[in-house]
Amino acid sequence: MCGIVGYFGPLNPKDIILSGLKRLEYRGYDSAGVAIIHQGGLKRIRAEGKLVNLETKLKNEKFDGRLGIGHTRWATHGVPSERNAHPHLVKGLSLVHNGIIENYLEIREALQKRGADITSDTDSELVAHLLAEEVEKTKDLFKAVQNVLGMLRGAFSILAIWDQQPDQLVAFKDGPPLVVGIGKDEAFVVSDVQAVLQYTKKFIYLEDREIAVVKVGKVQIFSALGLRLEKPVVELNWTSEQVDKLGFAHYMLKEIYEQPQAVVAAMEPHIDLKNQSVRLKNVGFGHSPQSLDGLNSITDWQETQNIFAKIEKIFIVACGTSFYAGQIGKYLIENIAQLPVETDIASEFRYRKPIFSKNTLMISISQSGETADTLAAVRLAKEKGLTTLSICNVKNSTIDREASGHMYMNSGTEVGVASTKAFASTLTVLHCLTLALAKARGLLNIETEKDHILHLQKVPSQMEVVLAYDKYFAEAANSLKEFRGFLYMGRGVSYPIAMEGALKLKELAYLHAEGYAAGEMKHGPLALIDSRMAIVMVVPDDDLFEKSISNLEEARARGGKIISIGTVDNLRLKSVSDRYLGLPKAHWSITPLLSVIPLQLMAYHLANSLEYDVDQPRNLAKSVTVE
Ligand code: G6P
Repeated sequence: MCGIVGYFGPLNPKDIILSGLKRLEYRGYDSAGVAIIHQGGLKRIRAEGKLVNLETKLKNEKFDGRLGIGHTRWATHGVPSERNAHPHLVKGLSLVHNGIIENYLEIREALQKRGADITSDTDSELVAHLLAEEVEKTKDLFKAVQNVLGMLRGAFSILAIWDQQPDQLVAFKDGPPLVVGIGKDEAFVVSDVQAVLQYTKKFIYLEDREIAVVKVGKVQIFSALGLRLEKPVVELNWTSEQVDKLGFAHYMLKEIYEQPQAVVAAMEPHIDLKNQSVRLKNVGFGHSPQSLDGLNSITDWQETQNIFAKIEKIFIVACGTSFYAGQIGKYLIENIAQLPVETDIASEFRYRKPIFSKNTLMISISQSGETADTLAAVRLAKEKGLTTLSICNVKNSTIDREASGHMYMNSGTEVGVASTKAFASTLTVLHCLTLALAKARGLLNIETEKDHILHLQKVPSQMEVVLAYDKYFAEAANSLKEFRGFLYMGRGVSYPIAMEGALKLKELAYLHAEGYAAGEMKHGPLALIDSRMAIVMVVPDDDLFEKSISNLEEARARGGKIISIGTVDNLRLKSVSDRYLGLPKAHWSITPLLSVIPLQLMAYHLANSLEYDVDQPRNLAKSVTVE
């Protein structure tokens, strides 16, 4: 995580860096800082806490140089404090770092033996010392970087400047993303193109162990060995999205309310509404994300179906909210496309030595497309010869670039750190994908296909109905204050929804909540139940309804307070609940898209009434680029 921005050009680096950091604050908000050339030296200013603190400090600061770097931090080594904030500065050498230096202990020890004056608890400062030692010897920042690259183990992307060469910035990476933006007589080096899209649309994506040297009007890329590389300049046709709260109190609330549109945008490329049939648009197996627009959609769909027809097994791998979406994908695919699906958290998948067989498809889900563990899982799957398909929101992100096939959430920018609309988009994409798999396998007759599409088409208006009940969710949230613990439960597709609901409460309201399969309640959680334990149970009218009611009765008999989310006018459910929230009736495969909304809104309202920062919850970040 952490967001980094470097600028070299005719404009004022302070403004460019600050505006870039603002757009990267989703990557971390523990501290921020800049180092900019001024009066022949380097002027560094840092502040603990959110970017706004740095902005205040920088308000009246002037810099005469045209080269600078900035950083917004998500703490790994060392507490959030000004002392540990980046940029680090050692003898005129300054750097910003995103990632983790795994061999930092041995580097620290060696530096201390050589008498280095280490002033922070970070692993990043150690790299600044190494570079300062090397520039001293080589008198050249690029050569120093080449030497230091071999000394580092871990995952990192780094920007370095040196006051003795105030006309160049050197960037290098191994792991977290780094992109060079090319402007007219200027260049930017950033963690994410969003940081500078208002200035340029031309980018060079750095691969691992590549070094970028940015000089006046010139950007050169080298291998770690110093070989000059010819890298493609990718021209993005994206506009810099104006992310605005549009009158909502928080981005998260706005994003929850954007879910009906998110569903439409996710399904629109893949569903032919006129003929009520599914036809995935430009999945482009084997093609780069940039070349997808140039594909012939009919041929691509044919190729996709040929690949799908051969698939015998699926892995779905992701982290956080994306993982819970993937778990719902398992229920959809196994039920509708009749393929065995294994779901796994990426950090487990990559180390657990899964058994790979032929004709296996690995679906990775990542809103950011940068989550380190998910990326490692994609790389492992590729190495083992699996066909990979990514579902990302950020086009051209590392996971999108590395996977063979590509599908997109199309959610638009999601600013709230706790994911909401991207979850709805992912479920929609997974639904389309499931139908496509079933179709390719000859398992979807025309009538069933039409039925599914009809169900999907109804979702946006059903979501509007659910959103219109918001005041009841706010009331329910208020009643949650009296509890000391929360058990979220569900069965079938509602089980991952229960886990997502519990996750939202933890992320936003800092309360302990567990998501559980309702059938497992007897095997432990029942012991926790008393009148101070709230049971939030998702109980749609589906085949498992009666079983869920029995679980609720068992919890009630032990004094648990029941908040149920079910189908409107279900008197049976109402009669066993202390609070009952009724949602529109929907097909079982659609219910997750509706039942997640009250859970998102309850967590939002509760956190908000406790005066927590719902858009940037403590200790979290939106893009997790470290293991
Ligand atoms: C972080 C975010 C979550 C997100 C998870 C996976 O933990 O705070 O909201 O669900 O990462 O992110 P991804 O970008 O891979 O979907």
